[in-house]
Amino acid sequence: MKHFRFIGLLCLALLFPLLAVGAEPLIHIRFSHVSDNDTPKGQGALMFKRLVEERLAGAVKVDVFPNSSLFGDRDELQALRDGKVEMLATSLAKFGKYTTRLKLFDLPFLFKDHAALERFQKRPAGQQLLLSMQDHDIMGLAYWFNGMKLLSAVKPLREPADAAGLRFRIQPSDVIDSQFKALGADTVRMPISEVAEALAKGDVSAVENPWSNLHTQGLYRHLPYITVSDHGPVSYMLITNAKFWRKVPFSVRIKLDEIITEVTYEVNRQADALNESSKAHIVASGRSQVISLTDAQKQHWREAMRPVWKQFESEIGADLIAEAERANN
Ligand code: LMR
Repeated sequence: MKHFRFIGLLCLALLFPLLAVGAEPLIHIRFSHVSDNDTPKGQGALMFKRLVEERLAGAVKVDVFPNSSLFGDRDELQALRDGKVEMLATSLAKFGKYTTRLKLFDLPFLFKDHAALERFQKRPAGQQLLLSMQDHDIMGLAYWFNGMKLLSAVKPLREPADAAGLRFRIQPSDVIDSQFKALGADTVRMPISEVAEALAKGDVSAVENPWSNLHTQGLYRHLPYITVSDHGPVSYMLITNAKFWRKVPFSVRIKLDEIITEVTYEVNRQADALNESSKAHIVASGRSQVISLTDAQKQHWREAMRPVWKQFESEIGADLIAEAERANN
């Protein structure tokens, strides 16, 4: 009898730390991102937190750090690789250091709209790209959409020649740099968190962002003209550290995958509505004049930016570009 009592006490002693009230969850996911909560990505991160803590209560804890409050554009990817953060949703324009294939998404006027982009991303070629940075411990989990980019500036942009001499803030993308250089414009690579101040100081005179970022980052207050060019997407890859992800128990990872699928559907379903809401806010403010392009004007922008495709074809792959173009039909 004494023998059984001893084993019982031993098991309790071993289990107690886990059973103690308020025991730390087994897994802690720090989700850092550079956008506001009131954006598709911000809403997605909060929904992910809510669902994980409902369905994996006690096993997984999620903390969300929006608006570059933990890591920003300058350091978030290295922080993920160093294990200082477990989840990001980084713009596809920001992975140039780790793969050339994702430059595909920066090619101007490649995807005609959100639906075409999603069709491509759901096909095998798009899904394969989620795995293109595993050698750098970056594991792609999903694509989250924000919106189509608009050209916004201190002067009206109707024809490509109007962009000459402007200084565009851009994401760290060689493709985007070349697209504006093709117009005779200058560029400066800058974290999104610094753009509003740079516009206010006159350090930059133009940007390319979707409505939700123009609104929630306050950029529209410094941009009297917004041209509805829809010349490319701001789309994100939801990523985690591959080493961290492989250590998550399979039963938990299955649940996390289910939640990611559900959140991804909601983010992509809500994105257009969130951008429309931001557009309405900006229009109502009267701070910016919204310029629509005629079909002929839009074609002029396409033709002016098109040389960029050839310039990066060898890095991206002609096959991948052709596959992406087919998703427009
Ligand atoms: C940008 O840097 O303009 C965007 O990628 C920011 C974001 O994450 O929406």
